[in-house]
Amino acid sequence: MKPRTANPTDEKGLRALAEAHGQGHVFRFWGELNAAERSALLEQLSRIDFDLIGRLVAESAGPPPGVQAGSLAPAPIVRVPRTDEERRDEARARERGAELLRAGKVAAFVVAGGQGTRLGFDGPKGAFVIGPLTGRTLFRHHAEKVLATSRRHGRTVPWYVMTSESNHEATLRHFRESGLYGLREGDVRFFQQEMIPAVDARGRFFLESKGKVFTSPNGHGGSLKALHDSGALREMRERGIELIFYFQVDNPLVVMCDPVFLGHHSLAGADMSCKVVRKTGPGEKVGVIGLQDGKLTVIEYSDLPETEARATLPDGSLKYWAGSIAIHVLSVSFVEELNRGGFNLPYHRAEKSVPYTDESGALQKPSAKNGIKFETFVFDALGLARRAVTLEVRREEEFSPVKNARGEDSPDKARQDMTQLYLSWLEACGARVERGPDGSFPGHVELSPLGALDAADLRGRVMPGMLVSPGFVL
Ligand code: UTP
Repeated sequence: MKPRTANPTDEKGLRALAEAHGQGHVFRFWGELNAAERSALLEQLSRIDFDLIGRLVAESAGPPPGVQAGSLAPAPIVRVPRTDEERRDEARARERGAELLRAGKVAAFVVAGGQGTRLGFDGPKGAFVIGPLTGRTLFRHHAEKVLATSRRHGRTVPWYVMTSESNHEATLRHFRESGLYGLREGDVRFFQQEMIPAVDARGRFFLESKGKVFTSPNGHGGSLKALHDSGALREMRERGIELIFYFQVDNPLVVMCDPVFLGHHSLAGADMSCKVVRKTGPGEKVGVIGLQDGKLTVIEYSDLPETEARATLPDGSLKYWAGSIAIHVLSVSFVEELNRGGFNLPYHRAEKSVPYTDESGALQKPSAKNGIKFETFVFDALGLARRAVTLEVRREEEFSPVKNARGEDSPDKARQDMTQLYLSWLEACGARVERGPDGSFPGHVELSPLGALDAADLRGRVMPGMLVSPGFVL
């Protein structure tokens, strides 16, 4: 939550502030509010940075910054190993990462403050059931990975969970009702990111209700400030944490605290690192990694000029082939530095439909886009890093996000991808998988992360020749 910038008991001062910024209409229903609603409105206004919104509105009147093709170049990337030397590098990185985990220097950090509008699920996205057979939720799935990673390395990996006002209480309830999924009380920590008002075409706030300004979470980039403002960063220091493993709540395939990734980051002395996968084609809607004016950056698919998105190398492969999968390692010292003296990542604007209370006091839920939301993106911090590692990984092993209710990036697709991954582990251990004539598998299997984080965990537990049919759970 944003620290106050004004006195919440000073009604006169807050009215003047709102008037001065063209937002006096937020007091329109003041006469109808009871005492509690009035103080809640004043409290909310005292946390709004009116100057910032004014600046963002002024900037959004101009053309969007866009990306100049001339200033772009492909970034150096650590590829999935193909040569013996690359395999040795990977082994060295894995060992360094495991050492850091054994020394208790790594924290897991999930950003779960988003609203999951595309999925259309009523509740925090983490409470969405992803396990096709066991009914496990995304939160449980991640929690079990965190727990299994701690057990494997003999040291606790504390887990930091960022929520927002829109889902904080519901998230806490889910964790409490599930006994923190087996995690110890002090080893999982929740904090909220800031909210920011949306504006209409004239730069005016919307009222969500008669006594409340409509706000939404300020983007996953808000996590770097929220880590600091909540005291989580200080607590990490006290625990001896040096590296933060950042992931998003909607990717069930994430390799939790991947030692190879941690190791590459640490061996390179990097500030912030990034995982990428090969794009499925020029039109895939993921941000690509590139250098802009020499600085590592993620270029949103909508910002990448068409000619560059389609550009190929002499061997016919895409020039910008590396799609970011929103998995990062951040050094605690880097996040501390960013927060010294205050900082703000740039805000991006997105046109959205925003529900609002109209002048007669009735709630309107437009289907057309009527407002602008402002969001920061965590990957914009890459450009501030002195050193950064970009690591290529295999999509089928690490990335299948749950974004849409159906089709691409949907729960069905993620469940299929989980099943295919688990089958590949089982087969690697000698199990016989009952596939159809075309190699397909007519159903699902499910492994608990507590039982197996990867194929290596299955060795000795899966008898060679063991038959695996749909419905198999371990
Ligand atoms: P997305 O940008 O995909 O947004 O977030 P979303 O909220 O999940 O879904 P839509 O766009 O409303 O459909 C990617 C990750 O970043 C987190 C989300 O919770 C998700 O883990 N996130 C996003 C935040 O933590 N805060 C934000 O303000 C935005």
